Amino acid sequence: MSPTYRIAPSILSADFARLGEEVRNVIAAGADWIHFDVMDNHYVPNLTFGPMICQALKPHAKTADGQPVPIDVHLMVQPVDDLATAFAKAGADYISFHPDASGHVHRSIQNIKSHGCKAGLVFNPAASLDVLDWVIEDIDLILLMSVNPGFGGQSFIDSTLRKIEVARKLIDASGKDIRLEVDGGIKESNIRAVADAGADTFVAGSAIFGKSDYKGVIDQMRTALAA
Ligand code: DX5
Ligand code: ZN
Repeated sequence: MSPTYRIAPSILSADFARLGEEVRNVIAAGADWIHFDVMDNHYVPNLTFGPMICQALKPHAKTADGQPVPIDVHLMVQPVDDLATAFAKAGADYISFHPDASGHVHRSIQNIKSHGCKAGLVFNPAASLDVLDWVIEDIDLILLMSVNPGFGGQSFIDSTLRKIEVARKLIDASGKDIRLEVDGGIKESNIRAVADAGADTFVAGSAIFGKSDYKGVIDQMRTALAA
């Protein structure tokens, strides 16, 4: 059975002066999820937006006929738990964090789930997946970074393809319904290779928001995925 692919535009590359409109426009163009990159200028060398912005965007995260579109919060913050709680209260649907940013990974996962959100773990390009041995049954999402976190517009790191294959095997062996998302440097030209390695969910920031025709880019990505 072919996977249900999800395209998750990262609003990191949107026009911050018009964020609500950008979210509505990219959903109208076919976005499945809205990827929300939270950077704290501590865990990563950049500073973006917090739970108040998420709460303000929540009413915009729906299709024209009113269907909610998941907000996929990627926390690049340390410590994790208080902000994760704040994002859960601000309307996040998925909340993912980097395990190396939490002193108590299992507890951080349970905290996210206790607020009714789906929980994910994020792995930097050189990070080991070992922690999954102990918590894979507790999570809903694995997010593999294909760039070093902190900035949009970087080039895809090719070793991620091997890591996607490893993560796919772990998910299949777990028998659990876990999304495998990849983040960084994804565009129309490489999304197919990322899917072939085993990913089912694709973050794309600059590839989508860097063009004026969001629908054109998303349609090309879907065509590549369907080929
Ligand atoms: C990087 C962020 C990414 C970023 C991807 O730290 O996690 O989500 O927005 O941007 P592109 O698609 O431009 O590489
Ligand atoms: Zn991200």
